[in-house]
Amino acid sequence: MNERYLITLTVNGDEHEVLVEGRYTLVDVLRHNLGLTGTHVGCEHGICGACTVLVDGAPVRACLIFAAQAEGYDIRTVESLAPQGQLNDLQRCFTAHHALQCGFCTPGFLMLAEGFLAGNPNPSREDVREVVSANLCRCTGYQTIVDAIAACAAGRREAAPATDTGSPPES
Ligand code: FES
Ligand code: FES
Repeated sequence: MNERYLITLTVNGDEHEVLVEGRYTLVDVLRHNLGLTGTHVGCEHGICGACTVLVDGAPVRACLIFAAQAEGYDIRTVESLAPQGQLNDLQRCFTAHHALQCGFCTPGFLMLAEGFLAGNPNPSREDVREVVSANLCRCTGYQTIVDAIAACAAGRREAAPATDTGSPPES
């Protein structure tokens, strides 16, 4: 019989105690044990990116790490973007720019983009093109995904308070 371990996962700000076998992947535990089915499973081999979540803010393929390895980290899934059922600005940009068709890849792209924009709020279009190349989409041709992420970045910059230069006033 496979041995089971009690682990504590912090997901979208909540702590969950979960009994897992050592072979369980993070994406399986998110979906099957915690019922967070927004994270999709495509290839299960680290290729497609459909399972992308944030681990301490960094995009990670949740099919490539064991659930036990995620203990002690802050995990965010696509459900965290709309906790009250209201789409966040990135999701609204995906809708406005028609950045999804079947939608299977979308949770992975959203989390990839969230992690990316947190570290690079002023990306060039080339930066965005490079980051989306990490994930696979069979429907959109990627251009609308790039448009959506670039529009979200621009909107966040406009909404940000003006930067204080810290310079003392001239006397
Ligand atoms: S399901 Fe994880 S990368 Fe494809
Ligand atoms: S919208 Fe269908 S795979 Fe991307």
